[in-house]
Formats: sequence, C-alpha cells, structure tokens
Amino acid sequence: MKAFPAYIDLRGRPVLILGGGAAALAKARLMLAAGAKLTLIAADFAPETKAELETQARLIAREPVAADIEASVLVFIADTEESEAWRWAEVARLAGVLLNVVDQPELCDFTTPSIVDRGRVTVSISTGGAAPVLGKRLRADIEALLPPRLGALAEFADRYRDTVKATIAPEERRTFWEEFFDGPIAAQILAGDEARAHEAMLALVNRPQAEEKTGAVHIVGAGPGDPDLLTIKALRLLQRADVILYDRLVSDEILSLARRDAERFYVGKAKSNHAVPQEEIEARLIEFARQGKMVVRLKGGDPFVFGRGGEELEALRNANIPVFVCPGVTAATGCAAAANMALTHRDHAQAVTFVTGHAKGEADPALDWSALAALKNTLVVYMGVTKAETIAAKLIEHGRGRDTPVAVIENGTRENQKIVKGALGYLAHLITASEIKGPALLVIGEVAALADGETLIDIIARQRAAA
Ligand SMILES: C[S@@+](CC[C@H](N)C(=O)[O-])C[C@H]1O[C@@H](n2cnc3c(N)ncnc32)[C@H](O)[C@@H]1O
Repeated sequence: MKAFPAYIDLRGRPVLILGGGAAALAKARLMLAAGAKLTLIAADFAPETKAELETQARLIAREPVAADIEASVLVFIADTEESEAWRWAEVARLAGVLLNVVDQPELCDFTTPSIVDRGRVTVSISTGGAAPVLGKRLRADIEALLPPRLGALAEFADRYRDTVKATIAPEERRTFWEEFFDGPIAAQILAGDEARAHEAMLALVNRPQAEEKTGAVHIVGAGPGDPDLLTIKALRLLQRADVILYDRLVSDEILSLARRDAERFYVGKAKSNHAVPQEEIEARLIEFARQGKMVVRLKGGDPFVFGRGGEELEALRNANIPVFVCPGVTAATGCAAAANMALTHRDHAQAVTFVTGHAKGEADPALDWSALAALKNTLVVYMGVTKAETIAAKLIEHGRGRDTPVAVIENGTRENQKIVKGALGYLAHLITASEIKGPALLVIGEVAALADGETLIDIIARQRAAA
C-alpha cells in the first residue's frame, strides 16, 4: 500500500485552493460536497469558477501568503506554475498542512481518489497515482454493482441502531444485522418502499427472539441468453443469492455470474417433459424462504412474459413470503435487436402482439386468428416452431397474404443464434430447411422483411456448397 486510505470529516473546516481555473473548480466541487469551509485564492478567476462558486466559497483575488496556508487543514494547488507550486509546497510542509498539487504526484501528501458516492456509503478507489484511468474504470464497475439507494439503506440502519441495541442481545446483534441486510426489509428499502420497511422493521425488532426468520424470493428475468443483457439489478441479486432455482433457457454464462457458494437447482421444463411440476417449484421456493434464505427464481427472458412468473408470485404471496420481481429483456425484444428488426417500425406496423403457439398435445393453438391476421400488426409467436404450419395456415385462412414476410430467430442473442426469413406461405418449409428446432421465435408481418437473416435461397445455396 503506497498511501493509507482514511476518511476525513471536513464539515466546517478550512480548506484552501490556490488557483481559479478548471482544475481548481473540480477540487472545489469535491470539497463543497464534503461540507468544507472553502477559500480559493488566485490572481484571477475563470468566469465559470466565479459563477459556480461565488455564493458557496470565499474567492480572494490576490497573491497567497504563508498565513493563508498555515490557517488551513488541507491545501490544494491547482492551475499554478511549477516553480510557484514548489514554493507553496515548501510552506505547507513547514506548517505541517497536508497538500495536494494537481498533476504533480511527487509533491502530494495526499491524492484524491475516484469516488462512488451513495450518501452515507462511499467507496474510494486509488491506484496510488499510477493509473488514474484505471481508477475511473473501476469506479464505473463499482457504480454499476452498488444499488442506487444504498445510502438510504445505511440511513435506515442508522436510525434503528439504538432500538436494536435496546432490544437485541449483544451476542445476537451481528447476526441480526447480517439477516437484515440480506433480507426482505433491505430489499424493500432498496426498492424505495420505506413505509413498509419501517413497519416490518418494527415488527422484527419487537419479535420474540426464538421466532423463525423468513427469507425472501426474487423472481428474476435472465434475458434471452446474452449475459450482457442481464440487468444490473439481476446481477446484484445473483451475487447475493443463497439459493437459485433456474430454468432451461438460462444460459451457463449467466449462471457463472452467480455467487459461487449459492445452492443451484435446475427446475427447467422441456416441452412435454415437465422436469419439476410447477406446484413443486412453488413449494420449494416457499420452503427455502421459510428457512430464511435469499432465494432467486431465475427465468429466461422476462418472468412475466410466458414465464409463469405470475403464478409463482401469487403462490408466494398466499404463503406470506416477501417476494420481489426483477424484469428481464424478453425474447421478442432481444431477438428483434439481434436481427436489427424494429417490431413497430412506423412504416410497417401499428401494433405488436405476443402470443404463444404452445398447445396441449395434438390440439391447435386456441387464438383469435381474425384479430391476429389484421394488417399492420407484427405478430410474435413464442413456442411456435412445432405448430408453425398450422399457425401460417390459420393466418392465411383469416386473410393474411401468403407473401407476408416472416422471420424465425433461433437462440437469439446467443453465440449459436440463427436467423432465417421468407414468406408466410412457406414458413414450415423455411423452418425444416434451416433445421430450426428451438428455442425460437416466429415474427410475422411486414417488419420481418427488415430482419438480417438468410433466405431459403441462401440456405439452399449454402447447403449445396457444403455438399
Ligand atoms: C416458456 S417461454 C419463456 C419466454 C420468456 N419468459 C421471455 O420473456 O422471453 C420459452 C420460449 O421463449 C422463446 N425464447 C426464449 N429465449 C429465446 C431466444 N434466445 N431466442 C429465441 N426464442 C427464445 C422461445 O419461443 C421459447 O420456446
């Protein structure tokens, strides 16, 4: 460690900046955010510095003197010539005042870190002056990982510190706070629902010590496959989960982002081969939460789009388990982006409809075909590959032209993504020729002509060349 990190309380304490330009302004902003009593001394001030700081700091237009430095807790030298900087560095050193000279690390007693600021929670990153750009990158990474309302969480905990001291035995306090930060009350605060969090906290601190604790379930959308499409919130939840129950369409790359020691259970369903019955999945979620665990129910795409997320939410609510939903990028929007095809391109569509082509056994999907066959409607069919022939025939029977453009996207956004396009009249043939098995989406409507994909002619030409 080249320099020791320490947090200094600067509220109301005198800080001096020598300089009146852009570098001085940047340091001034930091010092004002820390509540310092700020003075800037410079021969003259840039108009922006003057305009921004005039009401918040003392701006003195003259040469500095040693007494200015001696009266300060911290001194910054910014926008100053090198020989001047050396002179004032000497004065500061003799006076024992800590000094920072912008862009001259060899003259600095302290450097200013890259800061992630969440109110009461701050994270500072330093590379010891070696690589400030790396410091800024790390800061961006940490910014993405920390919930925006982390400061509110710290404030909330601070408000209950005395109550917890008064009601929880000393040897149990640490476990109490660990459970609090992992549990549903913290999740409520981070979600912005402080009113309910206060109610729950009061119940918690007043609960008899021996009572069972309850965990929480987060129903989380994993997106269509590309791990970069995971939301920041989903990533945070995965990294905190004790238990993860995941589906067939959740990619390995996404699972590898989860906390290493989280218990993982595959509860995926393959078509007509329900690996774990829905009721059992719900029962397991309830059971894990009752054991006090932080449970993530991870689903492909968005949990509320053909994902049975609604049923799980109801079951958990009926069992009085705290439950939260984190949306994901649904296959339709993920695949549309992957194929560069705007689902509601103004020239081609006025509406977009998501339907499922899934039907039990031999039955045809029970859909309102005349409504779906309407012009200027983009129809996105989930789970429609095996019934593609029937779907095309029904739409044509209800008035959609045989030449209506279609696109089929298999494994959209994944490395093995396949996109083909053609016309409704030969949709089933297109699927067979391109050997698409799924998971795949059918997109039917004028916008499908925009998709970047192979046509039947391209497929046949490629197959002939390979033969
Ligand atoms: C049970 S549904 C789940 C949908 C999911 N909840 C969502 O919002 O995307 C499964 C179907 O979604 C579609 N699907 C999911 N991921 C896909 C992907 N990466 N590419 C193409 N289709 C996908 C397929 O039609 C698949 O059969």
